[in-house]
Amino acid sequence: MDDRSDDNEQTIGRRGLLTAAAGAGALAAGLTTGAKSGLAQSAAWMQPGNNNHVVDLQAATSAASAGEVTIDYYGHCALKITSPAGLSILFDPWRNDPSGAWGLWYPNEFPKTVVDISMSTHAHFDHDALFRPESTMVLDRMVGSWAFADVSITGLADKHACEAPGWYAWTNALAEFGQNACPPDNPGHMDMVMYVVETGGIRTLIWGDNRHNPPESVWDAMGRIDVLTLPIDGSEHILSYEQGNAIVERLQPKVVIPTHYLNEATTLTLSTLASADEWVESQKSFAKLDTPTLKLAAADMADMDREFRYFGSNVLTG
Ligand SMILES: [Fe+2]
Ligand SMILES: [Fe+2]
Repeated sequence: MDDRSDDNEQTIGRRGLLTAAAGAGALAAGLTTGAKSGLAQSAAWMQPGNNNHVVDLQAATSAASAGEVTIDYYGHCALKITSPAGLSILFDPWRNDPSGAWGLWYPNEFPKTVVDISMSTHAHFDHDALFRPESTMVLDRMVGSWAFADVSITGLADKHACEAPGWYAWTNALAEFGQNACPPDNPGHMDMVMYVVETGGIRTLIWGDNRHNPPESVWDAMGRIDVLTLPIDGSEHILSYEQGNAIVERLQPKVVIPTHYLNEATTLTLSTLASADEWVESQKSFAKLDTPTLKLAAADMADMDREFRYFGSNVLTG
């Protein structure tokens, strides 16, 4: 029997607090403009362009290929990975909360970026603007294995961080609307999928907002991780420095990329986030990048050990 039916659908939907907050009449400012964004999700039929790039890749590439992997940063948790063969995958495009409950995080909309694939780790507003990129494919919260051209992706189902480690007790807001943030009875918006992306001989883990302590079976399924992305900022909104450092120690990646922090190019102070400067500067090996683009080749990474690569406010905006 499918036990996913939601007795609270009218007041607290699977998408969570938004429905609950609106039902409680708790929202006023921001609701109108936000609602338009929410309605815009099924807009693929209006996209310019077509799938020619994917058709070409389908014909030309059937196995792993060597060469550089490109990682572009679009602010917050939004990263685009481009394989050596040219397949592009964008993770976690952001938007403002359509209900208005969480306030304004971004002064602009996510750029209308052209990509082959868009993916989202979970159904929070700062990760799920899948209607903004112009994508040939959308893989929303994909669990399991997927492969195409010279890329394979494994989606690992787990749970969102459910205890705020920093000064802003945002998880208390869920309790105020009657939700248990933590599993096993968490609402659907606190479900998470982490992605292990393998291309060009490099395995990248998209952590999303996952909890710091997944079960052993999930750790085991990650396998070797070469590039680790982690949501850590100075306010310790999702993960604390201590939790992040423990994850880095456990996975021993060659490269660590901070995400989910305040950057001047895309994010507002109203988000309550802070920069990741302090955390990065506490690491034994780090580089502050001066561009939004990082190119990595497996052949050059053999001797790398937990080297932080920090995009700061270098962000692609178009
Ligand atoms: Fe989240
Ligand atoms: Fe988030």
